Amino acid sequence: MLTKRERYAAILSEISTMICNESDIIAKMANISAALRKEFCWLWVGFYRVVGDKLVLGPFQGDIACMRIARGRGVCGTAWNEKRIILVDDVEKFPGHIACSAESRSEIVVPVFKDEEVVAILDIDSGNPAEFDKTDKEFLQQIANILI
Ligand code: SME
Repeated sequence: MLTKRERYAAILSEISTMICNESDIIAKMANISAALRKEFCWLWVGFYRVVGDKLVLGPFQGDIACMRIARGRGVCGTAWNEKRIILVDDVEKFPGHIACSAESRSEIVVPVFKDEEVVAILDIDSGNPAEFDKTDKEFLQQIANILI
């Protein structure tokens, strides 16, 4: 049985190969979402893009989700505002958490930077509490870095 690090290493290599000749960010976001959800069976994996003063829903895998999130709102808007990865062990304890799925128990949000500005965020929800740790942080950050 592979460790989480080994699974991430394999998927990182798969994603790098898959997107290296693609310049369209939407196409890359779509396949990254699909690859991550297939590997880890998370509840929801997807991207929101910064469009003006809102995060707008981008490519994702999972149930329908809210389409616009204001800066500073929810986990996604907070990660954008504070320009940092946010890891939430228990979504019910995050003030202002936006519940797109009643089944979501934990969440990680990773900002995607271009020229030091957040241009998108990668959002992942899990049905398990405290699903995400520093390994997820490390590898999802690398995936966000190679997207741009
Ligand atoms: N939970 C997020 C909203 C997006 S959905 O989870 C897909 C938040 O609090 O920002």
